[in-house]
Amino acid sequence: MIKVSNLNKAFGGLRAVDDLSFEGERNRITSIIGPNGAGKSTAFNLIAGTLPPDSGTVTLDGRDITGMAPYVLAGLGVARSFQITNLFFGLSVKENVRLACQSLVKRSRYLTRIDRLAPPLARAQELLAEFGLLEQADELVGNLSHGDQRRVEIALCMALDPKLLMLDEPTQGMSPSETAEIDVLIKSLAGRVTVLLIEHDIDLVMSLSDHVVVMHQGQKLFEGAPSAVSASPAVRQAYLGYDDAAA
Ligand SMILES: Nc1ncnc2c1ncn2[C@@H]1O[C@H](COP(=O)(O)OP(=O)(O)OP(=O)(O)O)[C@@H](O)[C@H]1O
Ligand SMILES: [Mg+2]
Repeated sequence: MIKVSNLNKAFGGLRAVDDLSFEGERNRITSIIGPNGAGKSTAFNLIAGTLPPDSGTVTLDGRDITGMAPYVLAGLGVARSFQITNLFFGLSVKENVRLACQSLVKRSRYLTRIDRLAPPLARAQELLAEFGLLEQADELVGNLSHGDQRRVEIALCMALDPKLLMLDEPTQGMSPSETAEIDVLIKSLAGRVTVLLIEHDIDLVMSLSDHVVVMHQGQKLFEGAPSAVSASPAVRQAYLGYDDAAA
């Protein structure tokens, strides 16, 4: 469904993304892993329109979306979360979710009083329930734990009813129990939405992914099923830190 072909991006002399090609299948979870600085977030920025690529193409359902602005892509069903949590900290959980739901309201109804807009309010309520946020609905987002903030962020992405959900390190800074919750949450989304996931927690990647792309120094080092990735000597050496020759 999402196809990246020969994507390149250099920052000065640094080839942050170097001839990257891969595909994410519909309603499956494709993970991108690799050491710090491998080019994972840059690849996301190129796909999600945050940065223009130097060359290469990105297609969504066969449509060329290369270089389209993030707001245009949002309208085409691409939602992404950032590596750094990106929420309205001074608003409640409910208001954050409601604002995201309102973004789907037709422009002609922008001036309608919010309490008369039944569908976005109902949708917000559904999302709060689905993401286990009903109890915290009236709390300010800034007062939530990091794990709960991440859940709000994924709920906001899902409010857009996306085809493609892009998550950049959703478990960063999380405790093991929060990570386990995210594991369950992302699994519950599979089958409904195509997921591209950047993740450092290798156990999570192995548990969640249908397909794994391994990046190293901007390039694709390997791709395959999780079991094939952990068995690959090149991946074990470059990323997992094993040296099979020395073992
Ligand atoms: N806007 C930018 N300007 C200059 N260099 C950049 C920029 N963004 C990223 N880089 C560089 O490009 C390389 C790839 O960075 P990127 O953030 O894509 O890596 P990453 O795989 O997401 O790493 P991490 O796991 O640490 O998040 C790094 O060397 C980084 O310093
Ligand atoms: Mg990154």
